[in-house]
Amino acid sequence: MSESHFVWPQIGKETTDAVLQQLMESISIYDRSGVIERLEDKLANHMDARYAVLTNSGTSAIHASYIAAGFSMGDEVIVPNYTFFATVSPIYQTGAVPVFVDCDDHGGIDPELVERRIGPKTKAIVVTHMWGIPAQIYRLRELADKYDLILIEDISHAFGATASGKAIGSVGDITVQSLQAQKPLTGGEGGVLYTNNPEFYYRTIAAAHYNKRCKNEIPEDHSLYQYALTGFGLKWRIHPLAAAICEQQLDSFSLFMAGRERVARFMVDELSQLNGLSPIIPRKNDTSSWYSLVVKVNPEEIDGNSALSIAEKLNSGGAIEVDVPNSTRPLTDIEMFKNPGGLFPHYGEPHPSVKEKYSNSDFFASNLLKLPVWNTPEGEARATEYISIFKEVWKNL
Ligand SMILES: Cc1ncc(COP(=O)(O)O)c(C=O)c1O
Repeated sequence: MSESHFVWPQIGKETTDAVLQQLMESISIYDRSGVIERLEDKLANHMDARYAVLTNSGTSAIHASYIAAGFSMGDEVIVPNYTFFATVSPIYQTGAVPVFVDCDDHGGIDPELVERRIGPKTKAIVVTHMWGIPAQIYRLRELADKYDLILIEDISHAFGATASGKAIGSVGDITVQSLQAQKPLTGGEGGVLYTNNPEFYYRTIAAAHYNKRCKNEIPEDHSLYQYALTGFGLKWRIHPLAAAICEQQLDSFSLFMAGRERVARFMVDELSQLNGLSPIIPRKNDTSSWYSLVVKVNPEEIDGNSALSIAEKLNSGGAIEVDVPNSTRPLTDIEMFKNPGGLFPHYGEPHPSVKEKYSNSDFFASNLLKLPVWNTPEGEARATEYISIFKEVWKNL
């Protein structure tokens, strides 16, 4: 097996110390105390949100957001066709129907196309900030306000990015995030749900927890309090060791970001000079988390070479971390979205948007190169080496 050129997350002595300390303190926390309380407070503070709730995965945070938002049978939810599938798949647990929309030239859901899809059954708009690049979040906010819809942000790739100077994730009514190992902020596994809305918060607590957290955090005069003992059949508590890892990673986060920003700027400058390559960079007034650097390949400008053939050449030249992320396919190409009736017969025929053509999503699935963005001095050297390999490959195209 070849050696990896990109190590993430960065686990140092501070991380192992934090985990060992937590191991001795407690490995199951029933209420909002200890590392759970500290981390939720730090994350809410970062997001300028009233509430942050940790969960055991990003998928469960997304699922919780759909329960919190009150999705039910017959509701339509406008979703990106170009996203990781778990942004959308939990909708089927609620009876609501996803309505797919293509992405714009930065890979985020296209607000103009969103507006065309809004109808009497529309309940919410979901947006993912793909690969760390902010989607057009303020335009989506305007649409949500105009049509009285709930706006839900998936910032799994984008924690640390900003839009018009504000933390990404601070514009939606509910924001969710994965803390899985590859993500910009990680606990190994885990998730977070943020909101400013107390109703969404109580519904999240009732959906994701039972007993202590429900009893302590849902007011006694709230209609959900009577269910505090049992919740509703789901338990999505994060593991305290994951929370300890995440708290330590969060404490180092601004250092990681500064390193990534420097390396990304260098790589973008260099790659932009090569024929047929266009790195996707954030819009003016926005910044990326640099979860990855994604670069559009235009085969017409490079003798018909596809992204896949370019990636193969780069891999054989030694740039082994360059990848075509074509497992992130348009959701409308994936069986679950084409035919949700397999597990949920009540879904019957899918929404007609499943059968339409999505030219930008198709383009993104086939014509992107994905590179890691390093953040350490050794990583900067690796980035320089990768740029030389690109230049060598380009000489021979
Ligand atoms: C955009 C996006 N949303 C959601 C998820 C799901 O998160 P998790 O793996 O923590 O359940 C991922 C994970 O890869 C993701 O990339």
